[in-house]
Amino acid sequence: MQPSLLEELTPVPNPYPIRSETEYPEVAHLCRQARELAWSPADIDFSDLRDADLPPEVREAGAEWWSLRAWMEHGAIPYGTERLREAVFAHQPMEIKQHIVNFIAEELRHHEASVMVAQGLGAYQDEPRADYFKAVIPRFHDERDEKQMSFFAGLAVNTLFEQLSGELLQARYENARFSSIRKACQLILRDEARHIQFGRIIMRRFFSELSSDDRRMLGDKVAKKLRGSLLNGVYAVVNLPDEERERAGRNRTLAAEHGLGATHPDEEIAIIRRALEQIRADVAPYDVEIPEVPEVDRAATAH
Ligand SMILES: [Fe+2]
Ligand SMILES: [Fe+2]
Repeated sequence: MQPSLLEELTPVPNPYPIRSETEYPEVAHLCRQARELAWSPADIDFSDLRDADLPPEVREAGAEWWSLRAWMEHGAIPYGTERLREAVFAHQPMEIKQHIVNFIAEELRHHEASVMVAQGLGAYQDEPRADYFKAVIPRFHDERDEKQMSFFAGLAVNTLFEQLSGELLQARYENARFSSIRKACQLILRDEARHIQFGRIIMRRFFSELSSDDRRMLGDKVAKKLRGSLLNGVYAVVNLPDEERERAGRNRTLAAEHGLGATHPDEEIAIIRRALEQIRADVAPYDVEIPEVPEVDRAATAH
């Protein structure tokens, strides 16, 4: 190894103090629940998908859709590992580290379950086929944005997005006509409810102490992430380039029509709009204002 490379290695910070006192009893409670409610995607019987009488183009559309879901669940893992690293090096109490470890394991099983649905329908795609998507997915998580926020503020912001994706997943659960897909959605939603609960605990505890600059930044970050990546085919197809919007929209419609746990593109914006309104109401007591997201907010007046 070259000496210059050695110099770039980060020294291991002092591991002490390793704290054992519970500082956040509500978080410790969530950690106990996480252990009791653990599940494995491998226990779900996906044979109903393999045996179903579905035309090849529907299988293809469903597999594409569930591959996309799998990539998005996976996107939570690099995010989570960065947070775990911060929690360890900042000597956060055990229940905070435990929650983040649980979060990573749970997002990984959401990923795995989504891969298995895609496989049951056809084949899991291990990367997007469209170039624009290859560019969008890596931008889903930008550490530079995270590092501008305090540790707990960043965790709370992430939870706001879990609330949004939870609303979308609820609609996709209701769309699902196959018991394996219903089961997978149900178990994922149960985990997500815990992630959202964690965010609420953190918000109550830390949002009242934020400076006005931090409050403004938080609102801006939510709007930026929504517009910059989530409306680009992830949560909805609204911001896709025309041609891709049409193609992805058609496939999603096909998957929704056959009850594969998808939503029609027209429904998505309405769901996001409702969820965004709810999020605005949740953060308003802390004087956090989420700026206008034209694709979503203006769609409201157009209806
Ligand atoms: Fe998830
Ligand atoms: Fe989650």
